Amino acid sequence: MKDTAISPQTNLSNAPADEEELSALHIWGGHPLSGEVTISGAKNSALALMAGAILCPQQCRLRNLPDLVDIQRMGDVLKALGVKLHCEAAALTLDASSLSTSKAPYDLVSQLRASFFVIGPLLARQGVARVPLPGGCAIGARPVDLHVRGLQALGAEVRIEHGIVHADVKGRDGRLRGAKIYLDYPSVGATETLMMAATLADGETIIENAAQEPEVADLANFCRAMGAKIRGAGTNTIVVVGVPSLHTADYSIIPDRIEAGTFLVASAIARSELVLSPVIPDHLTPTLAKLREMGIKIVAEGPQRLRAIPGELRATDIETLPYPGFPTDMQAQFMALMAISEGVGTITETVFENRLRHVAELTRMGADIRLKGQNAIVRGVPVLSGAPVLATDLRASAALVLAGLAAEGKTVVKGLHHLDRGYDKLDVKLRQLGAQLERVTPTAANPVTV
Ligand code: UD1
Repeated sequence: MKDTAISPQTNLSNAPADEEELSALHIWGGHPLSGEVTISGAKNSALALMAGAILCPQQCRLRNLPDLVDIQRMGDVLKALGVKLHCEAAALTLDASSLSTSKAPYDLVSQLRASFFVIGPLLARQGVARVPLPGGCAIGARPVDLHVRGLQALGAEVRIEHGIVHADVKGRDGRLRGAKIYLDYPSVGATETLMMAATLADGETIIENAAQEPEVADLANFCRAMGAKIRGAGTNTIVVVGVPSLHTADYSIIPDRIEAGTFLVASAIARSELVLSPVIPDHLTPTLAKLREMGIKIVAEGPQRLRAIPGELRATDIETLPYPGFPTDMQAQFMALMAISEGVGTITETVFENRLRHVAELTRMGADIRLKGQNAIVRGVPVLSGAPVLATDLRASAALVLAGLAAEGKTVVKGLHHLDRGYDKLDVKLRQLGAQLERVTPTAANPVTV
């Protein structure tokens, strides 16, 4: 099989990293949007499913793959492990029939936290894994203690040396053994790591207080398509009965509920009617509930199609929580929306300890937001004003783009490498809906100034 770059649609992978960092999005606010937007495959599902393909000694195919820098990076990690990849028209073929190493390279893992999740399938498949600690990131320290403790419960010997997690299964033919695991917190990543590890373990594993996110259920469905025996994914108790090996599967990734939520907020903030498809409305329950509370009408037009009809915007209160609570990945976008809504609302971030850094940037655009610990008190203002702003993390970058759509004058969003990590051509999709924006990449003759 040909081993090609996995993202032929864009030149992102060819762009020097600093070039993307220096690029800026110029947005002229106040222009109405209209039309229909296509929602891409879910980033967080795709990353977990790519790791899951390591479990399979035969070729697998993932369809509806989003075109993202994070996907590119996960592909690089898999290639370093010996997985052969081939991507064509959003379908990725992964061939993990002969893994060349159990050691994931630090320079790749450090760029993408989700790549740590390969530890579960590597250990299950080979009985040995060496994966660098992913380190913290802009939104918090993000430890991996729950992953490690769960793998130990499954019988792995785990030690951390010089920043690398060494995990080994001694004896028992290198097979993990089923166990009962209670997670102190319903971590998405830990649930996924342990569920993948348990698919090939000897006996039954029960994960209690498991994460219930749709992406966990999507991973379970992919593993089931490969022959794994998993039930309860999507609830707080997952039961996995280990099987000796998995087989080939052809699987389509669910639509991205966070991208969909971001476009729903775009409709509200630009006071413009939009249609979104494909979406799974059940995955959007907390987002839709809050949008309705804020005055936006959402109409289902078929099983996978939603129409958003904006109204007068009212403030609300939001607390981020594990699914089915309100997603932390939608918090920043809702803050931008509340910034121009009538009244005062509060946003409480409980999932990550440092995920309110966009407050300072929104304030630069005229928002009235006061921070008290993990609470932001947002007092709506009639209008935001365009300003130069810096994206501090992935969802913050989307929030600033949304704010720019509503602001008077020109907003220049820098730090686009965050946006490109997790949004499939957000600027292109918005332009197709009528937004006035332009991506400007600096050259020596034309440096970006803000
Ligand atoms: C995933 C998502 C991310 C989303 C997050 C919460 C992926 C690739 N990313 O991240 O977009 O914002 O879920 O919905 O799917 N924690 C520990 N110890 C651990 C693991 C986690 O203390 O071993 C803590 C984290 O620091 C954080 C909280 O648990 O405060 C939630 O993290 P977790 O659910 O694991 O998020 P991720 O899987 O990293």
